[in-house]
Amino acid sequence: MNRLIVEGLEAGYGAVTVLRDVSLEVAEGELVALVGMNGNGKSTLLNTILGFVRPRAGRVVLEWDGASIDLAKTAPHDITNLGIASVPEGRRLVPNLTVEENLVLAGGGPRGRADLKANLASCLEMFPILQERRRQFASTLSGGEQQMLAIARALMTSPQVMVIDEPSVGLAPIIVDQVIATIRQLQERRKLTILMAEQSFFQTIAVSSRAYVLAHGRIIRTFERDLDAVGADEIRNAIMGLG
Ligand SMILES: Nc1ncnc2c1ncn2[C@@H]1O[C@H](COP(=O)(O)OP(=O)(O)OP(=O)(O)O)[C@@H](O)[C@H]1O
Ligand SMILES: [Mg+2]
Repeated sequence: MNRLIVEGLEAGYGAVTVLRDVSLEVAEGELVALVGMNGNGKSTLLNTILGFVRPRAGRVVLEWDGASIDLAKTAPHDITNLGIASVPEGRRLVPNLTVEENLVLAGGGPRGRADLKANLASCLEMFPILQERRRQFASTLSGGEQQMLAIARALMTSPQVMVIDEPSVGLAPIIVDQVIATIRQLQERRKLTILMAEQSFFQTIAVSSRAYVLAHGRIIRTFERDLDAVGADEIRNAIMGLG
């Protein structure tokens, strides 16, 4: 089975330990939510998967097409080349490049290069607003448009797995719904495998296959299925660490 596995992960910065004994799994085709309040280690976990933070203990492994790859020993650009794309916290677009230039820049790596034209066309088709604004500097886009561009940029690397960090931050509620619906479509229509950290947990859990709740660097709760049947109070209590 194709999947991304995190097992017994410990990671932190200098003398500070942020993640303790974190284990999770994302199987091919799933949209898995990682929910938790500010500062509980969501970005640290995603950045460990992406190779930007190195674990002190535990494993991060991509099992795909019969290969088993230790991501803890793989450089971030090689992780991208393996088909794991990042939609980072804060979007991190190049502000003084146009929409199209941001996309072409991302698509020029070893994995996306051969499909650059097709990927660009499909991104502009999927996001008509980006097509409309493709000669505009990224810095002039609205927050929601910037988030769409950050998602489209990740698609330019022809990924099979996407790691998305708090796409809804700073967006108006109606735009949050649009962004989350777009991510859901990517999972459904393109069969992408997605791990998404979010604080808008009700909207996120509503579209997710499964969810993990992270508090103080530990997974304190896992919602395996029937997320629709789980009451809002139960979800809220788990996230607040009361459950
Ligand atoms: N580069 C860093 N150097 C030192 N400490 C860091 C660094 N990045 C994060 N931390 C600390 O690690 C802890 C977890 O932060 P992290 O960014 O992983 O949380 P988060 O759940 O993503 O929060 P948010 O919802 O605000 O994005 C915090 O105490 C934070 O101060
Ligand atoms: Mg974060």
